[in-house]
Amino acid sequence: MGEFSLAQLPRLQKKMVKKHRTKVKTKDSDKSLEWQRAWEHEYQKQGIPSSFRNTPARVVTEFYAWLERRNFQGSQAADLGCGRGRNSLYLASHGFSVTALDLLKENSDYVAHQAKLMKLPIVAHAQNVSHPWPITTNSLDIAIDIFCYKHITNKDSQRLYREELARTLKPTGYYFVSLASENDGFYGPLLSHSPAPNHKLVVDPYVQIESYLYSISDLIQEFADHFIVMEVDEQESSSPMHGKEYTRKVLNFIMKKA
Ligand SMILES: C[S@@+](CC[C@H](N)C(=O)[O-])C[C@H]1O[C@@H](n2cnc3c(N)ncnc32)[C@H](O)[C@@H]1O
Repeated sequence: MGEFSLAQLPRLQKKMVKKHRTKVKTKDSDKSLEWQRAWEHEYQKQGIPSSFRNTPARVVTEFYAWLERRNFQGSQAADLGCGRGRNSLYLASHGFSVTALDLLKENSDYVAHQAKLMKLPIVAHAQNVSHPWPITTNSLDIAIDIFCYKHITNKDSQRLYREELARTLKPTGYYFVSLASENDGFYGPLLSHSPAPNHKLVVDPYVQIESYLYSISDLIQEFADHFIVMEVDEQESSSPMHGKEYTRKVLNFIMKKA
């Protein structure tokens, strides 16, 4: 990762970090290819619920209910890291025109195909969300990110994502992000083997997908460059990861532009 010193780590972890560094040959500034391969592997194995679930994430339906309670009027949405499109399809069936972005072409093609079959207004693009978005400045009423931001395991790439979000979200718009807490039952214990503990980086041992874990204050601080947090909660549930049941702890944030 180049952002920490081996000398800072306990001896046992040094071996793991060296192994990780040797495997990861791509530049920190563009890990698209490495991420793409790991996600292709995951979608073949289908170990993570979002890889096989067709129903919208409960947190997205709750965010929509939150908007409705405020009588929110808006029509333009983005789904960042849309996967197989379950949340894009939900938003589109509730009146939004959705721009859906995902690293994998298989996913964006699938989402476009589903949208066409269901006659829903979704435009899907295959692209890294830390590269410039094909979205007009100040045009989005809402943007959602369900377990994508945490997988952008490079702090510069995350900053570029936040800049694109700040550019494209209307001053009246809302951003909803959902990610794993550092106390999550699956990811949390992996912190003891973190190759970069200063960033709370963990590596899924089944498919080698990297994640950053967060506390509530970590994320509020990270987004403070462009956003203020309006609502936050930590939800506990039980769900399977790679065939085993875990107690999951998920952080959900609703933000607007500062
Ligand atoms: C855990 S899945 C969640 C998918 C979807 N949001 C859902 O809830 O069904 C994460 C998705 O983010 C995508 N992804 C990961 N890193 C990305 C990046 N840098 N740019 C675009 N998409 C990315 C992956 O391809 C994957 O489809």
